[in-house]
Amino acid sequence: MSVKETRIITKKTHLRGSISVPGDKSISHRSIMLGAIALGTTEITNFLEGADCLSTINCFRKMGIDIEKKGPYILVHGKGMRGLSAPSDTLDTGNSGTTTRLISGILSGQHFTSVLSGDASLNSRPMERIITPLRSMGAQISSVNADGCAPLKIDPGKLHGIDFHSPVASAQVKSAVLLAGLYADSETSVTEPYLSRNHTELMLQSFGGSLCTALHPGGGASIYLEPCKELYGRQICVPGDISSAAYFIAAGLLAENSEILIKDVGINITRSGFLTVCRNMGGDITLLNKSIQGGESRADLLVRTSNLTGTTIDGELIPALIDEIPIIAVMASQATGTTIIRDAAELKVKETNRIDTVAHNLQAMGGNITPADDGMIIEGGTLLRGTRINSFLDHRIAMSFAVAGLIADGETLIENSQCVDISCPEFFHTLQELTH
Ligand code: S3P
Repeated sequence: MSVKETRIITKKTHLRGSISVPGDKSISHRSIMLGAIALGTTEITNFLEGADCLSTINCFRKMGIDIEKKGPYILVHGKGMRGLSAPSDTLDTGNSGTTTRLISGILSGQHFTSVLSGDASLNSRPMERIITPLRSMGAQISSVNADGCAPLKIDPGKLHGIDFHSPVASAQVKSAVLLAGLYADSETSVTEPYLSRNHTELMLQSFGGSLCTALHPGGGASIYLEPCKELYGRQICVPGDISSAAYFIAAGLLAENSEILIKDVGINITRSGFLTVCRNMGGDITLLNKSIQGGESRADLLVRTSNLTGTTIDGELIPALIDEIPIIAVMASQATGTTIIRDAAELKVKETNRIDTVAHNLQAMGGNITPADDGMIIEGGTLLRGTRINSFLDHRIAMSFAVAGLIADGETLIENSQCVDISCPEFFHTLQELTH
C-alpha cells in the first residue's frame, strides 16, 4: 500500500454524473485462481487491480503461473489442475481473507508444501473455519503458531470428498472446501445456513466443472461438486463491484439534488442485498440495461436523492450485504426512524471488528448507534458533524465515512485513506468526478 494519507471531505450537494466502478473483487480473485489451474489462457477484462487481487496474482506467479497485463486484458496462462509448482518462499496474502482461504483449498490438493501469511489484520482473522473442514478431507493444513490463524502451513495430502455443514454462511469457507473438492477422490458437498455469494460455483461451471446447487426451504443451500480432471480457461468480463458501487449509491441517495448513473454493476442475487435494503428504505434506484454474462447478472444503476426510512436487516439478507453494512449504518443515521441490524456477528471477523469500528466513528460524528453482539441499532435523523475518522486501515470504513463526510457539517478527515487501494483504488478520484 502507498504512503499514509489523510483525505479531507466537506459537505456536497448536486452529485451528478455517469461513473464506473472497478471490477468485482470476489470475481477478480476467482478468475486468477481458476485461470491458474485451468488448461489454456484465461483472458480477463475489467479485472480489479486493487491490492487484494494483486496479492492473489503474486501468489500464483510464485507458483510458476505466467500472468501478464496486455492492454485492457489480464492474461492467465493456466497450467492445468496439476501444473502449479512449489513456491520458493512464503506466499504473501497481504490483507486478503479471500486469497488466504480460497488458495488454502487449492494448496491442500497439491504435491508440495506451502506457507501462507499476510499482514497483522489478516494474521489475526479466524482460519479454524477452513482448517477444520479441510483436515476432515485429508488435508495436512495447520496454523503455524497453533492459534487458529495464519501463517498456515500446508503439506501434501490425499483428499477425499466430505459432506460439510458449515456453521456460517461464508463464501470463503464454502469456496475453500469446493476448491479442495476438485482434487478429492469422491463427491464433496457443502451445506450452508443461508446461500452465500455463489461466484465460485458459477465460474467453476463455466470452466467445465461439474456441480449443482439445491436451495432449501428457509434459505439454506447445499452445493454438490464432482472431483475434476481438468478445467478449461476462458474469457471473463468482470462486472463492476456492487460493494464499491454501494458508496456512490449511498452518496447519491443522501446528498441533496443528486442523480448518478453507475454503469455495468454486478447484481448477482447473492450480492445485491444492498439494493433490496435501499429500496426497503425508500431509495430511488432504477436498474437499466440488464444482462447476464458467465452466469453473472449486471445492470446500470440510476440513483436519485431520496428520503430514507429506517428498516430491519437480518437472516438470509445478511450474507448478501455483509460488506455493505458500514455504509448502511451511515445511511441509517440519516433515515427517519430506527434501523436494526442483527444476525451479523460475522462483522466482528472482517478486516476490523466492523461493529466496533462503525460504532466508534459514527458516534464520533454525532450519530446515535448502539452496538450489539450480532449487529447494531441506529436511530436516524441525526446531524453528523465532521471530525477525524480513524479508518483502522479498513478500506470499507474509510469509504463509508468519506460518504458520511459529504453530508456532515464541517471537515471530515479520513486517516490512512490509502487503504481504499485494497478494493477501490479510484475511490477518491471518482468521488471528485461527481462533486466538482
Ligand atoms: C468474500 C466473501 C465474504 C466477504 C469478502 C469476500 C469472497 O466473506 O466479506 O469481502 O470473495 O468470497 P465471508 O465469506 O467470510 O463472509
